[in-house]
Amino acid sequence: MLAFVFVTLGSISVYGQDATTSDGEPAAPVEATSGGDAALGEALFKANCASCHKLYKKAVGPALFQVSQRHDREWLYSWVKNSTALIATGDAEAVAIYNEYNQSNMNAFPQLSNTDIDNIIAYTDTEKPKPTGPVVDAASTGSATGGSSISNNIILGALAVVLLLLVVLLIVVNKTLKRFAQANGIQTEFEEEERTPIWKAFVQNQFLVLVTSVFLLLASAYFAYGALMSVGVDQGYAPVQPIHYSHRIHAGSNEIDCKYCHSSARESKHSGIPSLNVCMNCHKSIGEVADATYQEGIDEYGIDYNKEIQKLYAATGWDSDEQKFVGEESPVRWVRIHNLPDLAYFNHAQHVTAGKIACQTCHGPVEEMEVMYQYSPLTMGWCINCHRETNVDLQGNGYYEQIHKELSEARGGRQLTIADLGGLECGKCHY
Ligand code: HEC
Ligand code: HEC
Ligand code: HEC
Ligand code: HEC
Ligand code: HEC
Ligand code: HEC
Repeated sequence: MLAFVFVTLGSISVYGQDATTSDGEPAAPVEATSGGDAALGEALFKANCASCHKLYKKAVGPALFQVSQRHDREWLYSWVKNSTALIATGDAEAVAIYNEYNQSNMNAFPQLSNTDIDNIIAYTDTEKPKPTGPVVDAASTGSATGGSSISNNIILGALAVVLLLLVVLLIVVNKTLKRFAQANGIQTEFEEEERTPIWKAFVQNQFLVLVTSVFLLLASAYFAYGALMSVGVDQGYAPVQPIHYSHRIHAGSNEIDCKYCHSSARESKHSGIPSLNVCMNCHKSIGEVADATYQEGIDEYGIDYNKEIQKLYAATGWDSDEQKFVGEESPVRWVRIHNLPDLAYFNHAQHVTAGKIACQTCHGPVEEMEVMYQYSPLTMGWCINCHRETNVDLQGNGYYEQIHKELSEARGGRQLTIADLGGLECGKCHY
């Protein structure tokens, strides 16, 4: 039996690994045609050229993939070192490309040696790496993190089958042993004595019945109360958004300040969702995520990040080849997550600016959230508790100094809480 269980478990874990490792290997850089060092070239490219050029796509300047096949080497040296000078000589190739790009000027790079330029060109000959692993569209899946659930279910199912087999086996063994005992004339002790069934003994003991029913009543009241109190509480609510927007990547890895996007939190009741213009401040030039980010998105969340950015482009009508807004605009319908009932009044500026409370106190570790969810219960008890426990920040508030001092003396000289200021008055939070 044990051997059987081990073999089964062993094969399951092998299966589990198969499911998570992807079969395709990232494409290795193709042999450099020029003999330059593509790795050195990549660093130079990122430092000097990446602000205007991409390898496989038009940006401010042309896509540079296999540029070495479009021009000869000497031409490239003089172009990169000083393109304006080359154009001024009336070189036909140079003038043509200059006109094609609306006569915008490329920086001169006199500091780059011919070897440097060879290295950069070796890098521009790198084939586009192929993505690996399965890709899922964010909007078409129920959960963004369902990647590993299939293999988990299979493991659980297999375990259940193994346990079932064990039970059947034990029953069979039991029966065989009994038959064996009978055949040999051995008396099994169970058959001998007449015992009162356990349920009869239980019913006869009135004390036990009383204690059990009290316990059952209390337990069901406890669970019923819990169930009733959670009606209308949407803690953990995480709807699928029309664009898979990751706070982990923006507020976490890239450390963008919350108030850059949620700017009205400082001075108004509402925090607001940024308009797509704010997104395009960056995304005009960020059409694709870094390769490492891309791979992570596919492996860990099953999301094709680049496709999500394309949705942003579709909504704003941005054509990344032409670098212009051309298409139709269509609003993105974000699904609202936090929502108090109409009877309650909550003001962000009062808490963020006057109260100096960090967003994370109420909204949780936003910078780690791949998918935004409601972290706090947003119940009345939650508001009241914090008002009871939080001390008023008296620093640098000269105007109220006298009032605060008198109030504090009236309360026996202790620290003032928000509750002392009226944070428990019904009218402050209810219209
Ligand atoms: C300020 C933006 C900018 C930077 C930085 C820049 N380029 Fe350019 N590049 C351009 C533009 C714009 C063109 C199109 C021609 C023109 O308008 O001058 C171009 C054209 C080129 C071309 C000709 C491409 C073709 O298809 O014919 C090459 C090669 C090139 N750049 C290489 C480089 C390299 C290598 C670097 C980094 C060392 C670099 N560029 C940095 C803007 C830039
Ligand atoms: C680059 C812009 C950007 C930054 C920076 C940003 N957010 Fe957001 N935030 C959004 C967008 C877009 C949404 C709507 C989509 C969603 O819910 O994921 C959103 C949604 C939210 C929501 C849920 C709103 C609702 O519907 O109830 C909260 C709460 C939130 N952000 C808090 C934060 C906090 C806290 C930070 C800083 C740690 C932050 N955000 C940084 C763009 C941003
Ligand atoms: C301050 C610059 C900045 C702003 C503003 C910004 N982004 Fe981004 N965004 C980035 C960067 C940088 C990346 C790529 C990160 C990487 O490659 O690791 C990115 C990646 C993304 C991605 C792919 C990863 C993901 O989150 O799914 C999407 C989609 C995206 N942004 C949408 C938006 C939307 C929608 C807005 C506006 C609410 C926005 N971005 C505003 C800088 C910005
Ligand atoms: C004291 C707790 C608290 C703090 C601090 C707080 N929020 Fe909120 N936030 C809430 C509540 C409660 C709601 C629901 C408001 C409603 O439905 O009227 C909310 C709603 C939101 C929304 C949805 C849109 C809206 O305004 O209704 C966003 C976005 C948001 N918060 C972002 C932020 C950001 C960014 C910060 C930090 C600058 C922040 N919040 C600080 C409690 C808080
Ligand atoms: C994390 C703690 C915290 C939570 C949670 C919180 N508050 Fe507050 N609240 C404060 C602080 C701190 C102040 C005092 C700000 C100031 O100095 O004016 C305040 C002040 C207020 C005031 C003004 C009180 C007065 O005397 O003028 C109202 C109204 C209010 N909060 C409503 C709410 C509501 C509604 C909720 C729940 C949805 C809530 N708060 C949740 C900390 C909190
Ligand atoms: C700090 C803010 C705050 C104060 C003070 C406050 N409430 Fe509330 N109250 C709320 C919030 C927020 C909700 C909504 C909670 C929810 O949706 O679960 C609420 C919900 C309620 C509800 C439930 C309404 C319903 O339809 O479920 C009642 C009744 C209520 N409050 C009465 C009062 C009374 C009476 C007082 C004064 C003794 C009071 N509240 C003081 C914030 C407050």
